[in-house]
Amino acid sequence: MFASLSLGLALLPLAFGAVHEVQVGQTGQLLFQPEAIFAAPGDQVIFHFHPKNHTVTQSSFADPCGRKEGGFTSGFQPVPANQTDHLPTYTVTVNDTEPIWMYCAQAARTANSHCGKGMVFAINCGADDAPNSFLNFKNSALAVGASLATAATDAAPSTTAAYGGLTIPAAPTPTLVTQVITLQQSTWTTTYSSYPGSPAATPATLEGEVHRVVVGGPGNLAFDPPRVSARPRDTIVFEFRQKNHTVTQSSFEDPCRAFIADGQQGFDSGFIPVAEGAAEFPTWNYTVKDTAPVWAYCRQPTGSHCGAGMVFAVNSDESSGRSFNAFQNVAKTLNGTAVGQSSPTPTNADSGALSVRVGGASAILGLVTAFLFSSLL
Ligand SMILES: *[C@@H]1O[C@H](CO)[C@@H](O)[C@H](O)[C@H]1NC(C)=O
Ligand SMILES: *[C@@H]1O[C@H](CO)[C@@H](O)[C@H](O)[C@H]1NC(C)=O
Ligand SMILES: *[C@@H]1O[C@H](CO)[C@@H](O)[C@H](O)[C@H]1NC(C)=O
Ligand SMILES: *[C@@H]1O[C@H](CO)[C@@H](O)[C@H](O)[C@H]1NC(C)=O
Ligand SMILES: *[C@@H]1O[C@H](CO)[C@@H](O)[C@H](O)[C@H]1NC(C)=O
Ligand SMILES: *[C@@H]1O[C@H](CO)[C@@H](O)[C@H](O)[C@H]1NC(C)=O
Repeated sequence: MFASLSLGLALLPLAFGAVHEVQVGQTGQLLFQPEAIFAAPGDQVIFHFHPKNHTVTQSSFADPCGRKEGGFTSGFQPVPANQTDHLPTYTVTVNDTEPIWMYCAQAARTANSHCGKGMVFAINCGADDAPNSFLNFKNSALAVGASLATAATDAAPSTTAAYGGLTIPAAPTPTLVTQVITLQQSTWTTTYSSYPGSPAATPATLEGEVHRVVVGGPGNLAFDPPRVSARPRDTIVFEFRQKNHTVTQSSFEDPCRAFIADGQQGFDSGFIPVAEGAAEFPTWNYTVKDTAPVWAYCRQPTGSHCGAGMVFAVNSDESSGRSFNAFQNVAKTLNGTAVGQSSPTPTNADSGALSVRVGGASAILGLVTAFLFSSLL
């Protein structure tokens, strides 16, 4: 990309493709105009910043209001209210035909988020009936906005662990968001719990994407990667390596025991032993149903894999007290080697959220993973 900030057209390289002009926040509206364009490799897209203070920042379809790792940004472009000409510009050079997703990062992660109000832009998005259509992208951004607008309200109280006497950080207040999703011939309305940075409720494709997770292996009591961000219909392929592991659903409050809610048992692969010299590795698949966090562990009691930190999460809210690290801490604190000693100490950076008290207690654990995801699968 050739970026030219506030330098006008004078320093643009020799043009070899078409030039597309996009107005950013014209007449004070929180909009890109046009909102989506198609451009060929070599084309340039010139953004003109109108009064207020906007950015053009690259995101991803799955996280419309979050900056893409390594993605580009114009930075903030403050323009006084009375300025009508010599508007600053920012130029993006299109290198290929892949979709490029963008948003305005002003007031990110607050109720005033420009992105959350629909200030998003796309180059080469999918067709209107494709999962990655502009409409689905913008609706996801608006869903983030709806969730931010109500997020600041009353936080849920923290709870006490079922054993081990540990205070569990409160679940982030989930915001139920209603979103219309269009996919090929069907349109449906889904209601789901959203949080800042939660993945889009729109499937990536009809079949979903595949995420590969390696379970165990020589000297490795871990899931690799330990955490994935996945969308509805995605498949997580657990590839079992050496030793004798499971992947079993648990809950944030009780990481090392099987999840049972309303008499319903969570998922469980069962034990999948793999010999030391094995060259082929069995798989076990889990299909993601929604965007709510899912917690899991290995239930091998010999050597207490879970207490050693062998836990896994899908869509953990990393901006809340219930990040993956916090979850792993709960597992280590409740079932780790320190258990049984007189004063167990939680071991890590996030442990500010965990306070240990002596003696066990039982508590009714409120699970805030409720999800009303209608008729998707
Ligand atoms: C196009 O390629 C240039 C040079 O490698 C890079 O700096 C720029 O970010 C790319 N453009 C986009 C939209 O990724
Ligand atoms: C533009 O917005 C950014 C981010 O909110 C802020 O840090 C900066 O001070 C603003 N600039 C002006 C001139 O208002
Ligand atoms: C905009 O308003 C400021 C403050 O009132 C003034 O100093 C400046 O000259 C004005 N600029 C234009 C382009 O009118
Ligand atoms: C795997 O672990 C389970 C639980 O400890 C045990 O019952 C089972 O016999 C083990 N399987 C093998 C082949 O070691
Ligand atoms: C899991 O999914 C992968 C990829 O779709 C497939 O290759 C594999 O056979 C599946 N495994 C099982 C046990 O169904
Ligand atoms: C963790 O500790 C609890 C309480 O002692 C126990 O019921 C549970 O089975 C342990 N989990 C594992 C995986 O060892």
